[in-house]
Amino acid sequence: MALISAKSILDNARDGHYAVGAFNINNLEWTKLILEVSEEKKSPVLLGVSEGAVKYMGGFKVVADMVAALVESLNITVPVALHLDHGSYEGSFKAIDAGFTSVMYDGSHLPLEENLQQTREVVKYAHDRGLSVEAEVGSIGGEEDGIVGLGELADPVECQKLADTGIDFLAAGIGNIHGKYPENWAGLHFERLAEVKDASNGLPLVLHGGTGIPEDQITKAIDLGVSKINVNTELQLAFAEGIREYIEAGKDLEGKGFDPRKLLAPGVEAAKQVVRDKIDMFGSENKA
Ligand code: 13P
Repeated sequence: MALISAKSILDNARDGHYAVGAFNINNLEWTKLILEVSEEKKSPVLLGVSEGAVKYMGGFKVVADMVAALVESLNITVPVALHLDHGSYEGSFKAIDAGFTSVMYDGSHLPLEENLQQTREVVKYAHDRGLSVEAEVGSIGGEEDGIVGLGELADPVECQKLADTGIDFLAAGIGNIHGKYPENWAGLHFERLAEVKDASNGLPLVLHGGTGIPEDQITKAIDLGVSKINVNTELQLAFAEGIREYIEAGKDLEGKGFDPRKLLAPGVEAAKQVVRDKIDMFGSENKA
């Protein structure tokens, strides 16, 4: 199946009361492992790519062509959207031109009017091409690829204004943070989530910072309208842990254990298990 816009994927998730994972990719191995597990679980999926990861992999076209080729060569039949994660204004247009099928334009750091105006322009460009757009108010806490936020709670009035720009799904800060949650984290702010839902024209909602959120909070967030959950750090931790164990056991020194295909394999297997567990937790298995 060719890459598609994320709109139908998320509308179906909202209507079916489950969430779809948006897993960040960093290289060919990650792309392949996420696609393979999604196919195995018959789950729709979004591949999220930050601009930092785009740069790392060699550019928008490299990423778009690699993902499209893997989807074709691996005979992936589940719906897949290639989604720019926390895109800049310029990056959103470049991603669309290169073959991404969905973009998050993140103007949450800008004055509201500017965020709204730029979001409208990205929406027009994307919708003219049948692609989907996510936008954000109330920055997400933590640090990701140089994007730093303080973990605000989104203002429902601002959510309403952003929803009115014509976006397809909305990311709103509800106490979520990118990266590992600190010991003293207060948890997700469900009252604010409910207010955001009421203020956002029934749009599917997006929860960033999916790493380490306990299952009961994930379930409650999905009940309150979250239809897309972004997960990045948890795959990174599992991948690194798998490779560390392999090296610490001296396996890279046995035979041809240094071959990158062997060296990376335990990381790939560990990250695959994270994707399986998240698909189970989010309820998107067999929803393709
Ligand atoms: P984590 O790295 O905390 O899982 O967050 C991922 C994310 O929100 C990507 O936008």
